[in-house]
Amino acid sequence: MKILLVGSGGREHALAWKIMQSPKCDQLFVAPGNAGIAQMTTCVPIGVEQVSELVEFAKNEKIDFVIVGPEAPLVLGLADKLREVGIAVFGPSKVAAQLEGSKGFMKDLCRKYNIPTAAYERFTDIEPALAFVDKLGAPIVIKADGLAAGKGVVVAMTLDEAKDAVKDMLSGNAFGSAGASIVIEEFLDGEEISYFAICDGENLLPLSSAQDHKRVGDGDTGPNTGGMGAYSPARLMTPQMETEILEKILKPTVAGMKADGCPFTGVYFAGIMVVNGVPKLLEYNVRFGDPECQTLMMRLESDLVEMLYAAATGKLDTVKPVWSDNPSLCVVMAAKGYPASYVKNTPIRNLDKAANINGVVVFHAGTAEKDGEIISVGGRVLGVTATANSVAEARERAYAAVDSLDWPEGFCRRDIAWRALSSDVAE
Ligand code: AMP
Ligand code: GLY
Repeated sequence: MKILLVGSGGREHALAWKIMQSPKCDQLFVAPGNAGIAQMTTCVPIGVEQVSELVEFAKNEKIDFVIVGPEAPLVLGLADKLREVGIAVFGPSKVAAQLEGSKGFMKDLCRKYNIPTAAYERFTDIEPALAFVDKLGAPIVIKADGLAAGKGVVVAMTLDEAKDAVKDMLSGNAFGSAGASIVIEEFLDGEEISYFAICDGENLLPLSSAQDHKRVGDGDTGPNTGGMGAYSPARLMTPQMETEILEKILKPTVAGMKADGCPFTGVYFAGIMVVNGVPKLLEYNVRFGDPECQTLMMRLESDLVEMLYAAATGKLDTVKPVWSDNPSLCVVMAAKGYPASYVKNTPIRNLDKAANINGVVVFHAGTAEKDGEIISVGGRVLGVTATANSVAEARERAYAAVDSLDWPEGFCRRDIAWRALSSDVAE
């Protein structure tokens, strides 16, 4: 098959790495890719939101299969346009992508099909929204309905903070039209995990779990980020927990999406809060997580292309993933300053040395090549990923790789997987 992968992050480098291992892949193009991907295969300079250019490229190159990494092109309808011209695609239609593209859509689906999630209401006007904030009390969570580059959620510890967020979003000051409609919901206190399953519209194929670290600083301090590191599987993921997530959350979602006329093809990334042992759905993403994907790809032993193609063509009941018994762990290296403004265009050296450590793969995110050197061009820059026969050893390997890099302008958290390695009793 000739395959086109859309995206440029660490998630896409990990997907590309796994796609290239598939005997089904004759040729892989990545649009737009990054410097790490360019060392493996051909990058095409088309941005992820240039939907018509992507479709034209796929037609001209006679691409057999398109795999879409990020949510933005899905919400813009890339998968629909590819299907219209007869090209198989892994990723949901524009309407089905509303599960991530509209928080209100996702919450209403939960309400309709009795899927456990935080209590909520939707608002477009300030006065009733403020009254609801008073009624529910703090802590409380305010969410912009639309995509806001991962920044549209305010977990407010006080009523004042919550009311400021309501006014900022509904007045259009924050997030523009994405904030013109909001969801206000109950604060859930628990431990967060990420769960992944793929779907062909009808059949659901459970994958595995991971746990991300969203705050920028050690001990989960400082501002939220896109994710500073992850390990897989998550410590709370017992067989009973998995069954509960599948039966109470994912299966009703698959059935509900189908019944509502928008069957979902692609990957369900369920953000789950485990509250006193009970899983509740925080949100759906319609793509793999980044850096969760890096940890999943390191553990996947079966053919990724076969699995994703089966999902795209309605044959998911014919495949089954095989996972390594070994856990994996990914440490994200970011440019100093991230998630606020950060330094750019600084050289990263000794990448080969890091990659030579046993069990380690260094996935690139915001990198480019300049004058024969790899330089940083984004906030999250590398995903140093390791596998070993324990989380502790995977962590040692990943940090040994981090320490062998020569990149003074980069930083990382030093405590990835602390929950898995602490003696705290799991929820
Ligand atoms: P989201 O963009 O929906 O993933 O939200 C960002 C983060 O906000 C989540 O990863 C959670 O850590 C937190 N969050 C979202 N909703 C809730 C909630 N109802 N209760 C507590 N924390 C939440
Ligand atoms: N790591 C969280 C995300 O990809 O949204």
